[in-house]
Amino acid sequence: MTNQTQEAVGLSVVDAGDGFDGLRAGAPGPTGRPMPSFPPPPVLHGHGPARVIAMCNQKGGVGKTTSTINLGAALAEYGRKVLLVDFDPQGALSVGLGINPHELEKTIYNVLMERHADVRTAIRPSGIERLDLLPANIDLSAAEVQLVGEVAREQVLGRVLRPLLDDYDVILIDCQPSLGLLTVNALTASHGVVIPLECEFFALRGVALLVETIEKVKDRLNPGLEIDGILATMYDPRTLHSREVVARVVEAFGDIVFHTVIGRTVKFPDASVAAEPITTYASSHAGAYAYRLLARELIARGDAA
Ligand SMILES: Nc1ncnc2c1ncn2[C@@H]1O[C@H](COP(=O)(O)OP(=O)(O)OP(=O)(O)O)[C@@H](O)[C@H]1O
Ligand SMILES: [Mg+2]
Repeated sequence: MTNQTQEAVGLSVVDAGDGFDGLRAGAPGPTGRPMPSFPPPPVLHGHGPARVIAMCNQKGGVGKTTSTINLGAALAEYGRKVLLVDFDPQGALSVGLGINPHELEKTIYNVLMERHADVRTAIRPSGIERLDLLPANIDLSAAEVQLVGEVAREQVLGRVLRPLLDDYDVILIDCQPSLGLLTVNALTASHGVVIPLECEFFALRGVALLVETIEKVKDRLNPGLEIDGILATMYDPRTLHSREVVARVVEAFGDIVFHTVIGRTVKFPDASVAAEPITTYASSHAGAYAYRLLARELIARGDAA
């Protein structure tokens, strides 16, 4: 990583070596706290059981889908077997991995609604080694309505994912921007939640309601649920504004805020157009390093194998 790209992700500039030298342990990181060192993750000798993580924020356009694809791809680079679950009827995650959602014979909708359907028949390889996709398309919007009348309607996704837990190390669920029944299903099926927050003035608006929803799900449906972390996205270290937003988020939420922040760069939309994760589209770009660092941080925190 060049000095310029280190600056682009808000890192202090020191000798660039393997791309992570800029993260000198103890130096102030972009969140204002001293940056711990996140070592390369240990090699895994087998796979599973998976930790399930919902990528969730009811605010639109904050980087949920981008973070799902790129964190997933970074974890796969580190030898983890990863399943990405598209749980948004917009199907942006599926499109972002090069799938035409209208041409799908089987999607998550089918396995949610057909009680004896085999979930594995809907899973597709992503083209990236160790990274699979459970795709969605607009059909999923009907599930939100149809599930209302089901017994244990909040637990349908959890039931669908259960047979897969031994096959993967991490399952990431890309939620839609709402707190409706689909999102409640995702929270009920998960061990952890990652909340991406865009570094802009209204970032914190709505987060209290999200945290309240997470607490309710934890009380009533899923006692093991934890907030794994809050991820600052679209961070621009050149603006005082971005730095202030991150400072406020750290003030409000403390250590659950990831030390890793994701810089704002056009390489992310570019990678989506190319239907690839940034880790393969622009492997040595700062944005790719940022998601690799997030993968390291998540593993170092014990929130992924
Ligand atoms: N770090 C970034 N820098 C610049 N652009 C970004 C970054 N992260 C995401 N984007 C772009 O911002 C837009 C919204 O991102 P994304 O789709 O990941 O958000 P989302 O939270 O999933 O949105 P939705 O709520 O609609 O599902 C996309 O065009 C994406 O390419
Ligand atoms: Mg999205």
